[in-house]
Amino acid sequence: MSIAWRDAMNVGEPMVDEDHKHLVDLINAFELAISGGRKIEHKKIARVLLSLVDYTGAHFTREEALQRAIRYPYHESHVRSHRDVLKKLSDIVTEYSRTPEGPTRDRMVRDLAGFLKEWLVDHIIQSDLRMKPYVLQMQAQKAESLRRKREALLNSQKMAGIEPALEPLGRPDLIK
Ligand SMILES: [Fe+2]
Repeated sequence: MSIAWRDAMNVGEPMVDEDHKHLVDLINAFELAISGGRKIEHKKIARVLLSLVDYTGAHFTREEALQRAIRYPYHESHVRSHRDVLKKLSDIVTEYSRTPEGPTRDRMVRDLAGFLKEWLVDHIIQSDLRMKPYVLQMQAQKAESLRRKREALLNSQKMAGIEPALEPLGRPDLIK
């Protein structure tokens, strides 16, 4: 069964959430390629697997940068778990490419679909959602800092007798 994206899976940072949705799409595409009792399309499987390895690596890099930006306290252990997953994925691809077409390879692919789903759900639900409070805190701090800057600018404009160029935040009645 394919994975359906739910809002509860959002970490709150659009870049990470879009990455996760794309990973879900890739894993669903993988499952689709082996479903329906049809002959397994190994060309498609190989393509999806390579995209998955590439995209997962790029996603981890983006996610780790975000964690540094929000000073995520579990950053180091999270990076270690990323390395483990990448190693496992690359081992899988190597093993897959070395196994000749036949029942063994087909069985390997079916086991793999289970592993990928389990890993993804675990990655997002168990691991990444722990970042959410830190992401939201960073966003709140950014919004507050922006509000203060605008306020300071408006005050300095008022003191200089300049017609405010910015709309004061929180005063919709003043917005033309
Ligand atoms: Fe992630």
